[in-house]
Amino acid sequence: MTEERLVTPDEMMEDESELSLRPERLNQYIGQTAVKENLRIFIEAAKNRNESLDHVLLFGPPGLGKTTLATIIANEMGVNIKTTSGPMIERSGDLAAILSVLEPGDVLFIDEIHRLPKSIEEVLYPAMEDYVLDIVVGKDESARSIRVDLAPFTLVGATTRAGDLSAPLRDRFGVINRLEYYNEEQLQSIVKRTGIVYETPIDDQASLELARRSRGTPRIANRLFRRVRDYAQVMGDGVITHDIAQLALDRLDIDSLGLDYVDHKYLMGIIERFGGGPCGIEAIAASIGEEPQTLEDVYEPYLLQLGFIKRTPRGRVITPQACEHLKVPYPLK
Ligand SMILES: Nc1ncnc2c1ncn2[C@@H]1O[C@H](COP(=O)(O)OP(=O)(O)OP(=O)(O)O)[C@@H](O)[C@H]1O
Ligand SMILES: [Mg+2]
Repeated sequence: MTEERLVTPDEMMEDESELSLRPERLNQYIGQTAVKENLRIFIEAAKNRNESLDHVLLFGPPGLGKTTLATIIANEMGVNIKTTSGPMIERSGDLAAILSVLEPGDVLFIDEIHRLPKSIEEVLYPAMEDYVLDIVVGKDESARSIRVDLAPFTLVGATTRAGDLSAPLRDRFGVINRLEYYNEEQLQSIVKRTGIVYETPIDDQASLELARRSRGTPRIANRLFRRVRDYAQVMGDGVITHDIAQLALDRLDIDSLGLDYVDHKYLMGIIERFGGGPCGIEAIAASIGEEPQTLEDVYEPYLLQLGFIKRTPRGRVITPQACEHLKVPYPLK
């Protein structure tokens, strides 16, 4: 099986081609209808009142379009966006430096906001609530706090783990949106759009095949698209046909549901080493040589969505549906 991963936990280094694929306006953003409709109303209302948009929290599995949506929010509001991430802000001074240069209405996007240090979160509370910063100057007895006014701004926070966010931080977001996996039809539209952006013809059956094997995730759809395009160029005449798509995806070890070798290793691990479960995430991770956090954030959400595993108080359990897909007789012995 190929060791190259299509689903990666760390997406900090996004390539240029992915950037140009990003929809820039709300009406180009496919799917997530409920989220989009809500945002459309909140944005219009804020603009009519000449106010900054309330703080927005976006959560959901990697690659579903959180960063894209943050940029769209800024575009629709007609403001600048400053981007940072939880682990990048180490001291309160780092955050103060970013906040103090924001112009009225600007969007501050904090990716991986659940990884913000606790001490920094506390600086964020008054900033979010009253647009002020409390800065401590001096040391020991001469230490005092001065209050600095900030421009009204919109914090857009993104996280794959909403549960890891502290309650006080979560409560300060006026708008909380959960992004869902995309259905086949929506992914097919995304794939077709990618074909147009890349000026690569793709037939309907091929775009459907890609949609089916993208595990509900636009980033994966786009990545698969690029691989399949290579096959079409070298082995065909550049057009992505159904045959080419199928051949390429099979060679990439993406199965009919979009599961890759790590998913297989994980599922077979539970079946073969733990008799189908229940077993703890730490134990499975150790037995297959993966990080528990990667399995929890990147792999399990889709397997849960497919109904291939269940989370119980005693650990993960394999389901009959998973066994059927893997062609393993159920019940397990
Ligand atoms: N609704 C959408 N319509 C069209 N394309 C989309 C949509 N959502 C995402 N994409 C595409 O998928 C890619 C990945 O999206 P994005 O980087 O916004 O995901 P993310 O949720 O921020 O992921 P991560 O959690 O890894 O940071 C984008 O570059 C864009 O091309
Ligand atoms: Mg992102």
